[in-house]
Amino acid sequence: MNSTSANHPDAKPVSYSRTTLTELMIPSYANFGGRVHGGILLSLMDKVAYACAAKHAGTYCVTVSVDGVDFRQPVEVGELVSLMASVNYVGRTSLVVGIKVVAENVKTGFVKHTNTSYFTMVAKDDADKPTTVPPLLLETPDDARRFLESRKRKELRITYSEHFNNARNRMLLNENISQLTQERCQMTDALREQLRT
Ligand SMILES: CC(C)(COP(=O)(O)OP(=O)(O)OC[C@H]1O[C@@H](n2cnc3c(N)ncnc32)[C@H](O)[C@@H]1OP(=O)(O)O)[C@@H](O)C(=O)NCCC(=O)NCCS
Repeated sequence: MNSTSANHPDAKPVSYSRTTLTELMIPSYANFGGRVHGGILLSLMDKVAYACAAKHAGTYCVTVSVDGVDFRQPVEVGELVSLMASVNYVGRTSLVVGIKVVAENVKTGFVKHTNTSYFTMVAKDDADKPTTVPPLLLETPDDARRFLESRKRKELRITYSEHFNNARNRMLLNENISQLTQERCQMTDALREQLRT
């Protein structure tokens, strides 16, 4: 037993809960443009995040927030989508699951990376209250890098949220409305009148 696991006898390695979900993109998943609907991918990501988080936590988990859902490339009907999930970070009751999504064209073997997203999940007990999750045993440099990056992402999200809330509280509609003249929007005469009063 190494020193880390000796400090935390309950710690579970990242490899314990690593989960891959592979699904064929069938025609009913298509949007009006004939490509796979973004919501289908989000639903699959939520599913694999749940499986991975629940395995680490050993309890029921809920999704609290999602970071980094930027679809870089479209996914086509007929492609095989694989979602690779691992626990990147654990707090007290929350855990962050990183999910890499790739789509493979089975005929050519070409694999494209469509997105990497981070789902924050919270473990719940039988009374539906947040409950403590086991510590994470880091075994590789990638495990350690992901843990640190996740912690930084959490810090930056809190900072962003504070800045945005401060800015929003200071933002008075009447005083800032002139900024909209540079934007691709138009106000009705009724709204203009309403803002003048
Ligand atoms: C998420 C939830 C459990 C938080 O409950 P709470 O009473 O505010 O609990 P806490 O403040 O103790 O937060 C619990 C953990 O969630 C984290 N958390 C809360 N809101 C968060 C957010 N917006 N983003 C990231 N983490 C968040 C906290 O940091 C804390 O983590 P930690 O224990 O590791 O430090 C509660 O809001 C909830 O059940 N939401 C509904 C979730 C759900 O049903 N999801 C499915 C959508 S259909």
